[in-house]
Parts: sequence; structure tokens; C-alpha cells
Amino acid sequence: MTGAAPASQHQPRIFSGIQPSGGLTLGNYLGALKRFVEKQDEGIETIYCLVDMHAITVWQDPLRLRHATREMAAGFIAAGINPERSILFNQSQVSAHAELAWIFNCVARMGWMNRMTQFKDKAGKDKEAASLGLYAYPALMAADILVYHATHVPVGEDQRQHLELTRDIATKFNHDYETDFFPITEPVIEGAAARVMSLRDGTKKMSKSDPSDQSRINMTDSADTIAQKIRKAKTDAEPLPELLDGLKDRAEARNLVNIYAALDNRSPQEVLTEFAGQGFGAFKPKLADLAVASLSPISKRMQELMQDVAEIDRILGRGAERADEIATPIMERCFDIVGMVRARR
Ligand code: TYM
Repeated sequence: MTGAAPASQHQPRIFSGIQPSGGLTLGNYLGALKRFVEKQDEGIETIYCLVDMHAITVWQDPLRLRHATREMAAGFIAAGINPERSILFNQSQVSAHAELAWIFNCVARMGWMNRMTQFKDKAGKDKEAASLGLYAYPALMAADILVYHATHVPVGEDQRQHLELTRDIATKFNHDYETDFFPITEPVIEGAAARVMSLRDGTKKMSKSDPSDQSRINMTDSADTIAQKIRKAKTDAEPLPELLDGLKDRAEARNLVNIYAALDNRSPQEVLTEFAGQGFGAFKPKLADLAVASLSPISKRMQELMQDVAEIDRILGRGAERADEIATPIMERCFDIVGMVRARR
């Protein structure tokens, strides 16, 4: 028994994913995509995946899913992901994800899965009617990461519990099979926008599945829509404070300050220093201008890229080939560790 391998024993490699279960939101952009671009430029190998198999854990219209997958790929490229530098692909094209997920279904314990808060949220009151896939979702997520021996995973705050489960699965696999095969992955949850909240309710996260479109900014929203949503965002009547402490009990105000900071690559304190004493009548138009200036070029580029769907499919296909080249030898070693016979064919 050699024990679990810390991530540092493995070559640094970043993996992350987004579900194409709808369009990209400002939450996805600030909490994930913008940071994926920064990581790509730090010189570590980066693998980014559109997790379409995760998306179908709840019903997806097939035509919409295919469109959303391509549009999300366009969104990644428009935001600055360079498909030559990063590996960009959709999950279902690399079968190793499903293969390792099955092995992890046999490693993860029912008790662990029962504690997953996102399953409880997504399944709602009628758990009996939820798909088995929705329940097993976090084991597939662990497989996404570990099939590449990824060491670091940039995500928003809402994925923390799933990444802890990923570490538990790797640790149990390594323990049970007396190996140090899988790295113990580090979550990378950082920045002012690790949890972007709904524009209508500062206690709920901004989400593509929220029934109210006013609650979120979509990357495909027009400049007018973005400005209108920010104008109507819920706030309070107080001016902005000088110090962060003054935002403690003001969830909506804090959210808008955090969004401003993340869009402008500044800290929330720096934003307060500039706007202290001003009310939302002054702050909101500035935030709207900043959001439009940041997002409009991306959504324009996205639309241009969507004119050539064949090129997007080619990029995803090439990304899948490169991903497969990394995953296949890892899966072969994994099958061997588990005791599965694989004859050369
Ligand atoms: P998903 O598709 O819900 O979200 C994709 C990424 O966006 C982040 N995010 C947010 N960040 C800040 N504020 C918000 N309001 C907000 N909403 C979403 C999420 O934290 C995430 O980083 N299970 C994952 C997808 C996944 C994955 C993986 C991620 C599948 N396999 C492997 C990392 C590694 C999910 O549903 O993300």
C-alpha cells in the first residue's frame, strides 16, 4: 500500500467543464470561462470540456442540445480559448469518460452520493422521478477529471462539494487497489465572482435553469437587454459603503460590486474605494456600461463563429482526438489495476 498521491506528484494539468444545458450566463463566464482563459495563458496544459452527458441527466430537447453545445464551443473561443493551445471538445466524443464513470460508480458509496446537495436541489420534491444519471452525476464528474489525471480544477463555489467527492473517490480507489494511480485533485475556487448571485434575489445563485430570465445575464443578450436587466436588478436604497464590511448584510449590493470587480479585474475593495458614498442610481449605469463593453464583443464574435458550424464541429472533433490520446493509456492502466482482461485486437 503506497497511499494516495498528492496532486504534486503528477504533472500539472487543468481540467474543467460546463454543461451545454442552455446558454452561457454571466455566472458561468465570471466564475469559470474568464478564468479558463487566464489559466490557458499561464502555460499549464488546459483541457476544457462541454459536458453533454451531464446535460442529459435532465431532459434536453435533442436539437437544442446540439445547438447549445456548438454555441457554447463558439462562446469559449469567442471569450479567448484558443483551440490550438487548450484542448476543447464535448464529453460524449471521448468514451473513456463513461468507462471510468462506471468504475467510479462501483467505488463511490451510496452514503456519499446521498449527501450531494446539488442532487437534492435538482431532483426537487419528487426524488423518485429523478433519473439515475442525475444521482450518479458526481461520479461522472470525477471521471471527467481523473481520466486525464488532472491536478487542478477551476470552478465556481457551487462545485466545491463535487470536487471533494472527486478527492474521496480517488483516495478510496487508490486505497482499495493499493496504488497511487489517481491524483488528489485541487479545486481552484477564487476571485470576486466565485459565486455570482441572481439579479432578482441575492441569496440564490445566478443560474441558466432559473425560470426568470431577468435573474441572469446571458452571454447572448443584446446591449439593451444587459443594460435593462442591470437597471432593474434588485438593490437597496443605501449608498455604497467605504469598506467591504458594510456589504455584509446587503447580498444584492455585494453581488453587483463583485460583478463589477470581476469584470474590471479589480478587487471589490478597489471598487468600493471608487464608488463609496454613491447610490445605485449612479453605480448601475457604470456597471451596465462595463458589462456591455466586456460582453458585447464576445457575443458578436460568437454569432460570427456560429455562421460556420462545420468549423466548430471540426474543432471539437480535433479536441476529442487529442483528449482521447491522453485518456486511452490512463484507461488501459486503470482496467489493468481493476483486473479487467484486455486482449490486443
Ligand atoms: P455548470 O455547467 O453548472 O457551470 C459551469 C461552471 O460555471 C460555474 N458557475 C458559476 N460560478 C459563479 N457564479 C455562478 N452563479 C455560477 N454558475 C455556474 C460553475 O461553478 C462551473 O464551474 N458539474 C459542473 C460541470 C462539470 C465539471 C466537470 C466541472 C462536469 N464535469 C469536471 C469541472 C470538472 C456543472 O454543472 O457546471
